[in-house]
Amino acid sequence: MEQIQFEADNGIGILRIDRPESLNALSSRMLQELAHFLLERAKRQEVRALIVTGSGDKAFIAGADIKEMEAMDSNASERFCNLGQQVTLLLEQAPFVTIAAVNGFCLGGGLELALACDFIYASESAVLGLPEVSLGLIPGFGGTQRLSRAVGTRMAKELITSGRRINAQEALRLGLVNRVCTKEDLLDSAIATCKDVLKNSFSAVLRAKEAIDSGHGLPLTEALKIERLAFRSCFGDLDHTEGMRAFMEKRVPAFR
Ligand code: CAA
Repeated sequence: MEQIQFEADNGIGILRIDRPESLNALSSRMLQELAHFLLERAKRQEVRALIVTGSGDKAFIAGADIKEMEAMDSNASERFCNLGQQVTLLLEQAPFVTIAAVNGFCLGGGLELALACDFIYASESAVLGLPEVSLGLIPGFGGTQRLSRAVGTRMAKELITSGRRINAQEALRLGLVNRVCTKEDLLDSAIATCKDVLKNSFSAVLRAKEAIDSGHGLPLTEALKIERLAFRSCFGDLDHTEGMRAFMEKRVPAFR
C-alpha cells in the first residue's frame, strides 16, 4: 500500500504523508515514493502549488524511521542520508510553490522536509525540533544547513545541540514558521494562500522563487545579477504584456 496520498483540485495539490501508526516516520520506502512523486509531478506540470501535510491528528512527521536506521551500517546510512537529501532538494527546487502544513510533531527528518518547503504554516499544537543528537546522530536531511539559513547559525546551534523541542509560537517568533493557525484552520489557510499565488503570473512566481533561492548566500552584487536576469526574462514572456495591459485597462489579468 502506498505511504503517500495525493489529491489535486484546480492546480492545488495536497500531499499527505500517510503512515500514522509510525507518526509518519520517513522510511527508505517513503522517501523513494516521495522522490518518485516529486519527479513525476514536476514533469506533468499540473500542480502550481503543493501543500505537504501529515495523515492523522498527531504528527506531521516524527522524523526519519529510527527502527530502520537502527540496523544500518555506515554505508547504508550514507545511502539513506543521500536519499533524504535528494527528496529535500527535489522539494526545494520543485517547479511549483510548496507549503508545509505542520499538524503536530515535526521532528528530525520531518522538520528537515518542512524546511525544504517554500513556507511553513503550523497548527497551535505543533511541536518542532531536531532531536537527532539525543539518538547519537546529527540531522542528515539538510537540517544543519537549512535551519541555520532559516534562523541563523547561533539559534540553529542551540536548537540542534540541545535537541530542544519548541512550540508553534516560539517557532513563529524565530521566523521558522510563517503563520500559526488553529488545527481546524491549518489546511484552509494554506489553501487560501495557494489561491492567492494562483491568481498571479505563474512564470513570474517561479522566477521570483528561483531568484530568491539562487541568490541566497551569494555576495549581494552577484545575487542582484541573478535578479536582473530573471527580471529581464519576464519581458520575453506573454504574462508581462497581459499583466501590465490589464492594469492599464483596469481589469483582472488573464494569465496563462
Ligand atoms: N521512527 C520510527 N518510529 C517512530 C518514530 C520514528 N522517528 N517516531 C514515532 N515512532 C513510532 C513509535 O515507535 C510508536 O510505534 P509503536 O507503537 O510500534 O511502539 C508510534 O510511532 C507512536 O509513537 P509513540 O508511542 O512514541 O508516541 P508518543 O506520543 O509517546 O511520543 C514522540 C511521540 C515524542 C514524537 C515520540 O514518538 C518520539 O520521540 N519520536 C522520535 C522523534 C525523533 O527522535 N525524531 C528524529 C529521528 S532521527 C532523524 O530524523 C534523523 C535524520 O535527520 C535523518
